Amino acid sequence: MADIADIVRCPSSHKALTLDRNAGKFVAQNGTVYSFADDIGCFLAPVEANDGNRSTRTFYDEGGWATDADGLYEDTKRFVDTRPTSLRFTRACMTRLQKYFNKGGQYLLDAGSGPIAHKELLGYGDKFDKRVCLDLSVPALREARRKLGDRGIYLQGDLTNLPIQSNVIDAVMSYHVIYQLPPELQAAAFRELWRVLKPGGVAVIVYWWANPTLPWRLQRVARAMLGEQKLPSNGAIEASAASVPDHNPLSREWFKSQDWPFPYKLDTYRVVPNSFLRSSIPDDWRGAAFLGLLMTFQRLAPGYCGKHGLMPAIVVRKGHPSEPSRYTEAAARHR
Ligand SMILES: C[S@@+](CC[C@H](N)C(=O)[O-])C[C@H]1O[C@@H](n2cnc3c(N)ncnc32)[C@H](O)[C@@H]1O
Repeated sequence: MADIADIVRCPSSHKALTLDRNAGKFVAQNGTVYSFADDIGCFLAPVEANDGNRSTRTFYDEGGWATDADGLYEDTKRFVDTRPTSLRFTRACMTRLQKYFNKGGQYLLDAGSGPIAHKELLGYGDKFDKRVCLDLSVPALREARRKLGDRGIYLQGDLTNLPIQSNVIDAVMSYHVIYQLPPELQAAAFRELWRVLKPGGVAVIVYWWANPTLPWRLQRVARAMLGEQKLPSNGAIEASAASVPDHNPLSREWFKSQDWPFPYKLDTYRVVPNSFLRSSIPDDWRGAAFLGLLMTFQRLAPGYCGKHGLMPAIVVRKGHPSEPSRYTEAAARHR
């Protein structure tokens, strides 16, 4: 039976933890205590001035995952083009990547899960015993728990130092999270996601390249086909925000230059940003036709789109120890 106590570890000593459910706490061998209240294991100290995730934590703790009267999250309202044509396209982009999770297993780690804001993402967990939701934000985890109940495990923790044992997770998803980290911590986050994977497991990481070439080319195509659009911006919403999450995308050259201990391939999540959808796509049959063509392009050339589009889906695999390769040697070094 999959259980939270079987997978957690102390983020400072990296040793196993004992769960005392009655007292609502995890206890490490060296005596360190972490709270476990309302099904949420808390492995983070309160935000401090020198916290590298400070603005992101502040944004999500202070209303980023609050809902309006229509049930729309503030984060979704601000950063996603929610007009029907654009939203259908974005949702189709999410559904396309579900194929990586069809094998199922014991644990799906949703790293930076937020509240699981889209029902298309909720479906990714269907073939797993438990979805492990990990996030900086307790309000997000409470929302995730409302949706998943006891099919979820909830951890308040940091992606760069996961409170999770090595080699225990069947599959990992981490969408729109790593580019919010300080640049110098992003490589550690990729390595952490790979560390917790079981041999044979897969991680799909939706990232954001700095300076991709495809979006501005597509912008020109869209202008030629659809004409100049005069669409309302969401400036009012942006201006009303007291804080914003960090946004630190790095280049594909940076990613390629790292000495990763894992093999990876590039697929695509979505080649264009929401600002492109807002500024170039009308919410009518012409917009739908353009986005239909774009989806066909993404399906036919996922590697090209992952390389040159804005948001790649970086697919990382962990080899089996029985397959000798430079990656399994690297795995031994990182154990
Ligand atoms: C843009 S939202 C994406 C949410 C969800 N993955 C999705 O695609 O809808 C980013 C989420 O990542 C979380 N996050 C950011 N940095 C994190 C970190 N270092 N460790 C854990 N979670 C983090 C934020 O709190 C927020 O809930």
